[in-house]
Amino acid sequence: MKFFVDTADVKEIKDLAATGLLDGVTTNPSLVAKSGHSNFLDLIREICAIVDGPVSAEVAATDYEPMREEALYLVKNLPRNVAIKVPLTPAGLKVCKELSEKGTMVNVTLCFSPAQAILAAKAGATFVSPFVGRLDDIGENGMQLIADICEIYMAYPNFKTEVLVASVRHPQHVVQAAKMGAHVSTIPPAVIRQLFGHPLTDKGLAQFVADWAKTGQKIIP
Ligand code: G3P
Repeated sequence: MKFFVDTADVKEIKDLAATGLLDGVTTNPSLVAKSGHSNFLDLIREICAIVDGPVSAEVAATDYEPMREEALYLVKNLPRNVAIKVPLTPAGLKVCKELSEKGTMVNVTLCFSPAQAILAAKAGATFVSPFVGRLDDIGENGMQLIADICEIYMAYPNFKTEVLVASVRHPQHVVQAAKMGAHVSTIPPAVIRQLFGHPLTDKGLAQFVADWAKTGQKIIP
């Protein structure tokens, strides 16, 4: 499973890229606003220089023509590892189809149903982003959506779209998505850090350090 970080915070991206475990980055207008960065294209260029893998940059327009213009402008002015993020609407899917046919990576976002995920695959999306946390928030089952999409996509080998699990709230979302065979999770920085932790790892390591000290030895003389 690939790990993307779901943030537009450059410092966080640098820190997590240093782990060597980061495969990409997703941003959205809310995360860009939160970053406080005043030049969107410069921000995405900076992120693309830190992480080789796909970096999602989202269009702002909602109507087809202006959305298409924005998407083409982003493709022209950003590095090759950018994935253009469009909403799961008729306009977004039309833009997705055109960009995908030209070989541009597209991430179709705001997916909340299996039917929408089928449309994204038919439009040739590189990634579809189902939002699990937001479904859980309204009392639905976000992970059931991932299970449904994985089952459908596996039944159609000509669907090349990768399932990018988004709106991840905790490590169990990541683990369950991995068990279902989802291709990617985009994870907030705090949740990525949670993935590393287990109290028995901390306890066991403290014991090893203490016992090693008792031996009085050094591995490197
Ligand atoms: O980037 C899209 C998605 O991951 C947003 O998550 O936490 O705002 O529901 P959230």
